Amino acid sequence: MTGLSLEDCHLCTACELASTRQTVVISRGNPNADLMLIGEAPGAQEDDQGIPFVGRSGRALDQLLREVDLDPSRDLYICNAIKCRPPNNRRPKKAELAACRPWLNLQLEAMNPKVIVLTGATAVEAILGIKGGMTQLRGQWQSWNGRAVMPIFHPSYLLRNPSKAAGAPLDLTRQDLAAVRHRLCEPWTASNSAP
Ligand code: URA
Ligand code: SF4
Repeated sequence: MTGLSLEDCHLCTACELASTRQTVVISRGNPNADLMLIGEAPGAQEDDQGIPFVGRSGRALDQLLREVDLDPSRDLYICNAIKCRPPNNRRPKKAELAACRPWLNLQLEAMNPKVIVLTGATAVEAILGIKGGMTQLRGQWQSWNGRAVMPIFHPSYLLRNPSKAAGAPLDLTRQDLAAVRHRLCEPWTASNSAP
């Protein structure tokens, strides 16, 4: 793909979501960070503002990140598997994920993250090609193109399951993010930095 730049994404009409979106939602955070978080798709507020994870889910996510000492604007780059909002927040279709993949690939290439966090089953399926329940998948390190990958519960799931009890989804997610933070402090050896 020669000459494709992330700026062009704002004009993309490669899938049917182009006709219903308000804005194309590309990223927030630090493009030079070692950590990249990939969500599912923009929701209503993201579509409105053109920034990922700015609604209720985003606020819950930012709070969790801060709780493990990760600064949302300094320590990671945040984006989604697809850049335009699906009508009524339905799950993205396979064809839409495929159509949008070149933009995500461009982000992955440009940011070259050491660690990737995937929030929810759609992001896990899109990147790792694994289908499954997040209860099984979360908290287990995976690898993708030499990068460490951590699947976590989607923040919207955490909003529906707000128990603060030890071992509840919120607590588990905090543990997963703490493991991610830990991993970021480890040296990036040749064996796990290969593309
Ligand atoms: N949920 C997501 O997966 N991404 C967003 O940007 C907002 C909510
Ligand atoms: Fe293009 Fe992705 Fe938006 Fe579809 S979702 S129009 S592929 S940017």
